[in-house]
Amino acid sequence: MNAPIGVFDSGIGGLSVLRALQKELPHERFVYLADNAYAPYGEKSEAFVSQRTHAAAEYLLARHQIKALVVACNTATAAAIQALRLQHPALPVVGLEPALKPALALSHTRRIGVMATRGTVGSEKFARLLSSVQHEAQFEVQACNGLALAIEQSTLPDQAEAAHAQIAHLVQTYTQAMGPFGSAPGEIDTLVLGCTHYVFVEQVLQQLLGPHVQLVSTGEPVARQTHRLLAAAERLNTEVAQESEQPMRLLTTGNLQGLQAAAQRWLNGTSEICQAVPASLALA
Ligand code: DGL
Repeated sequence: MNAPIGVFDSGIGGLSVLRALQKELPHERFVYLADNAYAPYGEKSEAFVSQRTHAAAEYLLARHQIKALVVACNTATAAAIQALRLQHPALPVVGLEPALKPALALSHTRRIGVMATRGTVGSEKFARLLSSVQHEAQFEVQACNGLALAIEQSTLPDQAEAAHAQIAHLVQTYTQAMGPFGSAPGEIDTLVLGCTHYVFVEQVLQQLLGPHVQLVSTGEPVARQTHRLLAAAERLNTEVAQESEQPMRLLTTGNLQGLQAAAQRWLNGTSEICQAVPASLALA
């Protein structure tokens, strides 16, 4: 099936998932929608995030005839994935959740840090996930207000310098609040990046926390899950296309320049078409 796979996030964070998807599924076409007009989602109400996620799904289905949807955003998944699946029963939908279970398999000290948005950590979905693993390790959960916004701003030339300073400050504050990191007993040896934006500050985090702390993100397992789901639904693309024939389509409801800069920096030089779409995502 030659239709594209839709990938959606509040902003540029989902590009970290798109990168893994491209690698896992090189013969597929992708259309990425960044809702930059309303990013970040993490500090907005669940009802609002759910409404935007539904609008994005409708838009991608109607305008791009997507054959599957990857909600490359933990916050939107927590707010809307259940309703989205009910609304579109024929559409394979892949969501994201903070990688608490994979972190359990990696941690020796049994003390695990979790960074995510306020929306994600305050959701019922996250509460269920946490209670299913809480007896196996000690989890230090930190809502990271402002961090996704600073990462968005770091792509805009006129805001980049201030944004980088803000990222350094927030990362320092939030990791300190979780507790000591390291590989000794009682220290946090594994940190879950529970927001797709945070993957882009991995280096800053690793430098701050030291080489022995393991950072866990979800791009690759999500890409593999998408592959499995497409295979099961017999929707994998069987025609091998040249990349030049199939440039990636990146859409934003907000600032085109920011998305372009982020794609150049983080998408390993693929050819892509960046387009602005109406913030309303209205179909008429
Ligand atoms: N990238 C998103 C996530 O994974 C949302 C960040 C935000 O918009 O606050 O949670």
